[in-house]
Amino acid sequence: MTPASPMPEVIAIDGPAASGKSSVARAVAQKLGWTFVNTGNMYRAVTWAVLDTGIDPSDPAAITAALDRMGIDFKTEDGETSVCIGGKTLHAELTEDRVNKAVSLVASVPAVRQKLVAGQRALTRLGSLVMEGRDIGSVVFPHSRFKFYVDASEEVRTARRQAQGHVDQISARDRMDSSRKTSPLVTAPDAIVIDSSHLSLAEVIDRVLADLATRGLTPPTA
Ligand code: CDP
Repeated sequence: MTPASPMPEVIAIDGPAASGKSSVARAVAQKLGWTFVNTGNMYRAVTWAVLDTGIDPSDPAAITAALDRMGIDFKTEDGETSVCIGGKTLHAELTEDRVNKAVSLVASVPAVRQKLVAGQRALTRLGSLVMEGRDIGSVVFPHSRFKFYVDASEEVRTARRQAQGHVDQISARDRMDSSRKTSPLVTAPDAIVIDSSHLSLAEVIDRVLADLATRGLTPPTA
């Protein structure tokens, strides 16, 4: 008799802009052999589509009306899931200045969140996931056993984004993301908070892996 396949698990990694959560989540996913999901890129892809079709990003009704025509689809490649728009996979477009400026507005539209959250939840069909974002531990997978909140001071986060060569309105995005009505950025009460201001990326990854190990989750041995 073959054993029943275990239920997929989700590691939720949330945090504010440029806190390093994507790099941490990708590395943890690679270690465990789980699929990495960057939900920020999904909101960025929809924002790019809004701007590309000439819709005003501050017009929630127009965005809601256009959503079903955008051809939003999820694609998984090399252990990472991304969003395609009308069959096109976006890369450099996701960090355009205009996308950085408009993404928090578009992400505050309830219909956008409903659509993307439904797609994010359905990804457990692929197996266990490491998913990063703003609302993963609070809204998308509130029953996840493994929740982390990766933070860093605003100065450190601004410096990290500048080092990546992007113009970004980190504090404006944080304010909008934390104050919106639909699933704002919050620290889930059962999340482990890691302040990465004075830690290297490797140290943050080690902390997450060490915590997972105390709860019986260890990377497979090669
Ligand atoms: O990487 P960075 O911190 O700059 O941001 P991101 O993770 O790429 O997310 C871009 C924007 O998408 C955020 O500022 C939020 O407005 C939105 N977002 C969200 O609302 N919910 C998520 N789960 C992920 C991102």
